[in-house]
Parts: sequence; structure tokens; C-alpha cells
Amino acid sequence: MDVYTCIRSKRDTRAYQDKPIPEDALGRILQAGRMAGSAKNLQPCRLVVLEDEARRKELSACGQFATHIVTAPVAVAVVIPKDGREFDAGRCAQNMMLAAWAEGVTSCPVTMHDADCASRVLGLPETHRVSIVLAFGYPAPGERRRSSPRLPLDELVHRERW
Ligand SMILES: Cc1cc2nc3c(=O)[nH]c(=O)nc-3n(C[C@H](O)[C@H](O)[C@H](O)COP(=O)(O)O)c2cc1C
Repeated sequence: MDVYTCIRSKRDTRAYQDKPIPEDALGRILQAGRMAGSAKNLQPCRLVVLEDEARRKELSACGQFATHIVTAPVAVAVVIPKDGREFDAGRCAQNMMLAAWAEGVTSCPVTMHDADCASRVLGLPETHRVSIVLAFGYPAPGERRRSSPRLPLDELVHRERW
């Protein structure tokens, strides 16, 4: 799939097949996160991969809309320093979600509303916090959602000045 098609066709999906993600595909997804650029190439992101169901259950209690962390075969927490830039975490997360979709693996970002809870479950050092958790899995049959509406391009884009 070419990059533009991948970007256009990717949907955030929360219903997954009960099917593991092969290690080589997961490796490519994580490599895509690794290759994301960052300010001054500081590479502030760290990734905590959760495949253990009990651990994913524990983590799902830290978010208000996080039950799909339990039904997804893999969750990846994107972790940054407490004073780290969200933009760096976003670049890393989107790289992984697009690389996943190119493999046929769908995903959905999950906010950890209780950050202390997530830090405890993930065993983070004092210096770090979770930016976002990504749930990954093969889409459940029939789970091809239509895209949520997007702004028309002329409402989004200003040329030369706002
Ligand atoms: C219940 C639910 C919770 C979600 N939580 C988050 C979230 O915490 N953070 C986030 O960036 N996206 C979250 N999403 C995904 C966004 O809603 C999604 O990016 C947006 O609707 C566009 O979806 P589309 O790209 O599939 O059209 C959530 C979606 C659902 C359905």
C-alpha cells in the first residue's frame, strides 16, 4: 500500500480479532516508532509493549474509555520525560499506527486519564510519564468503519496569512 493510500484509509478501530500480531510485524511497527524524528534528535520516546492480558487489564483501569486495551492483542505505551514534547510522542505514535495499517493491523489511541495509575502499572521511573497508549490488533470482521468527518480543506488551510 502506498503511503497516501495508507494515510487516507487508516481508521481508528477498537474491535479486534482474537489473533496475535506476529513478532516480525510487531518488530516493524516498533521500528517505525524508532525512526520517528524528534526535536534536536533527542529521541525522548520509550515504548512499553504489553502483550500479557493481566497487565493490559490492569492498565485499562487507568483510562475512562480504555476497555479495548484488553481485547487488543498488543498495547504499546508511548512514554516521554515529564518535561518532554507531546509533538515528539505524536510523531512516534502516528508512525507506528501507519506502519501497522500497512500490515493490515488496525489501532486506536487510548488516553490514560489517571496518569499516576498508568505510571504505577507500567513501572515508570519518576522522571517519565505516559503520553498515549496505542491498542493494536487485526480488525474484527465487518469492523470497517466509515471515516469520522474531516474539515473541508479550505476550512483547514490558510494560505500566506490566517
Ligand atoms: C471511545 C473512543 C475513545 C478514543 N480515545 C481516543 C484518545 O484518547 N485519544 C485519541 O487521540 N484518539 C482517541 N480515539 C480516536 C479518535 O476518536 C479518532 O482519531 C477520530 O474519531 C478519527 O477517527 P478515524 O480516523 O477512524 O476517522 C478514540 C475513539 C473512540 C471511539
